[in-house]
Amino acid sequence: TKVAVLISGRGSNMEALVRAAQAPGCPFEIALVLANKPDAKGLEIASEAGVEALCVDQKPFGKDREAHERAIDAALRERGIEIIALAGYMRILTPFLVDAWEGRMLNIHPSLLPNYPGLDTHARAIAAGEVEAGCTVHLVTAGVDEGPILGQARVPILPDDDDHTLAARVLEQEHRLYAKTLADFVRTL
Ligand code: GRF
Repeated sequence: TKVAVLISGRGSNMEALVRAAQAPGCPFEIALVLANKPDAKGLEIASEAGVEALCVDQKPFGKDREAHERAIDAALRERGIEIIALAGYMRILTPFLVDAWEGRMLNIHPSLLPNYPGLDTHARAIAAGEVEAGCTVHLVTAGVDEGPILGQARVPILPDDDDHTLAARVLEQEHRLYAKTLADFVRTL
């Protein structure tokens, strides 16, 4: 199954998916890594790993997010992509892309959804006195960080944690969870 990973930045989840796909018996192939910004660090990581890395820069499209998404969608279809995995893709999607890929687009979010959708999840969880944090892989629907949950992983919040130490502990689990959940999902198709 051909998967495209959409990124905006460092791309550590993308890298974890690329590595997982290289393991024998993995049911998915990372056929494309696509970024919305040319400076996304993950683009380099992807090409070094032998995966096509493409930037569909949002800049020339200005505020027209749908036109940008139509260009992304065309690039995905040209390559026969079947599944989109959002991994730190930091642009809110319009209904165009969400509807076009309904049931075939996954996202990873660094909280135990439905708790803490949106940004700054770790700082908010610590400030609220939570004792547990984690990450969620879910199908993308119209609402941001909503949509059916496919998998979650939990970590403790330790007394000395700040948002950086907690983010690092959660990120380790993100890398495992995303690869496993994507593999399970692809096997159900
Ligand atoms: C991850 O924490 C992910 O859950 C969130 O953005 C971050 C992306 O990190 N959506 P990376 O680019 O995968 O390293």
